[in-house]
Amino acid sequence: MREDTLTVNSFHTSGSSPTGPCRVGLLGFGTVGSAVARRLTSEPAATPFALELTHIFDRRAHAKRDGFAETAALGSKITWTTRVDDILTSDVDIVVEAIGGTDEAVAWTRAALLAGKSVVTCNKQAVAQHGPALLQLATRQGRQLRFEAAVGGAMPIVRAVGEGLAGDRVTSIAAILNGTTNAVLSRMEAQRCPLAHALADAQARGYAEADPSADLDGIDARAKLTILCALAFGLRVDPDRIETRTSAGITVQDFDDAALCGGTIRQVAYAAYEPAASVLTAWVAPSVVPRGSLFAQTTGPQNAAVITGTFAGEISLSGAGAGGGATAVAVISDLLAIARDRAAIVPAATLSRPDTIIGFTTIDAETAAAAEKTFLRGLRELCPSTLPDHQGRPEPGRGATRAGHRAPVGGCVERGVIAEAV
Ligand SMILES: NC(=O)c1ccc[n+]([C@@H]2O[C@H](COP(=O)([O-])OP(=O)(O)OC[C@H]3O[C@@H](n4cnc5c(N)ncnc54)[C@H](OP(=O)(O)O)[C@@H]3O)[C@@H](O)[C@H]2O)c1
Repeated sequence: MREDTLTVNSFHTSGSSPTGPCRVGLLGFGTVGSAVARRLTSEPAATPFALELTHIFDRRAHAKRDGFAETAALGSKITWTTRVDDILTSDVDIVVEAIGGTDEAVAWTRAALLAGKSVVTCNKQAVAQHGPALLQLATRQGRQLRFEAAVGGAMPIVRAVGEGLAGDRVTSIAAILNGTTNAVLSRMEAQRCPLAHALADAQARGYAEADPSADLDGIDARAKLTILCALAFGLRVDPDRIETRTSAGITVQDFDDAALCGGTIRQVAYAAYEPAASVLTAWVAPSVVPRGSLFAQTTGPQNAAVITGTFAGEISLSGAGAGGGATAVAVISDLLAIARDRAAIVPAATLSRPDTIIGFTTIDAETAAAAEKTFLRGLRELCPSTLPDHQGRPEPGRGATRAGHRAPVGGCVERGVIAEAV
């Protein structure tokens, strides 16, 4: 795999055993982690690929365990720990990284891959900044790194761009990728209220962090756009090189102005690539969108995307872009994909070397006489033109001959009859 290309890595084995449930360890028991845990523990397996949550790591694991209603029902089935090593050295097949941040999240993702685990991450910053190296490591380890939850929440845009549209030549992507900013701007539009009021409302509803600057300033969306550029165009882009304009300064007056020209305002992430000129246009900014458009109709913490391909034209997606329940959908879809691939793959047989290899040049008369019937029959089927004219065995030490030439019998032998296992 090219180091500068992200690919959705679908067909590697994960886990050391291809049978039995896929064992899952969770890093981080916050909004997303707890939603994933709840789904994994409260529902009977809905697919043939059973997932079993066996470990939960969190810096406040013990306090959180007491507050996790499902704990009692689960008894001691789940190991709760404050030591990440307990997961890395365990027999889990897949680690879910739902910690956030970059330093520890990247270090632990790397450690999990090195320990032979596949990893599902929700972490857009980690994937945008370190995705190529982590994917390369996953490939080297024969494991998977999946990251559907890192972009678009439950809106399956990573698969859509990385797999579903892999047969097209994507030329551009325009998208609403930040649910927090969308909740704020669509609230301003609906209520004609100042940004501060709309932000307070979003925070009260759990759509916005205490510090929403990464969302409003476009830092979050540009990390996601970086990932989409890799998937759509095969480009490795430094997120810092994607220009962003903040939405924090948008006013009610801006909405009034937009309405006068038949539009409204949304934070849009846009990327278009011209391969012939090797030019990428990419930005994140509050933009005027036509009132009847998909983007104008995208309200609250929803996300939306319009992907344009050379052959398929426009493909649109929209859906819940954030929230524990929605994001858990993407995580569990990735877990199931890994479990499916794992179940589909029969591990390669362990090969050993034979002590002796017998061929035409080493065969003795007694062995030749015993093997003659099957040996020659096999050879005849494989390569009739190299057989001797007579019915006897080939002469040891000379190979089969025809008209005095040394025939390429050795090749036949290697191909099918007594080849050394390699
Ligand atoms: N929330 C969403 O809607 C959403 C959507 C898509 C993607 N994501 C991504 O999902 C990831 C998790 O987000 P979240 O909203 O679930 O965050 P969160 O609620 O803050 O959860 C993170 C959890 O990890 C724990 N944690 C953080 N650093 C740790 C460390 N060094 N050692 C041990 N435990 C640690 C936190 O403990 P404390 O409780 O002590 O802080 C918390 O329980 C992020 O990468 C985020 O970008 C989130």
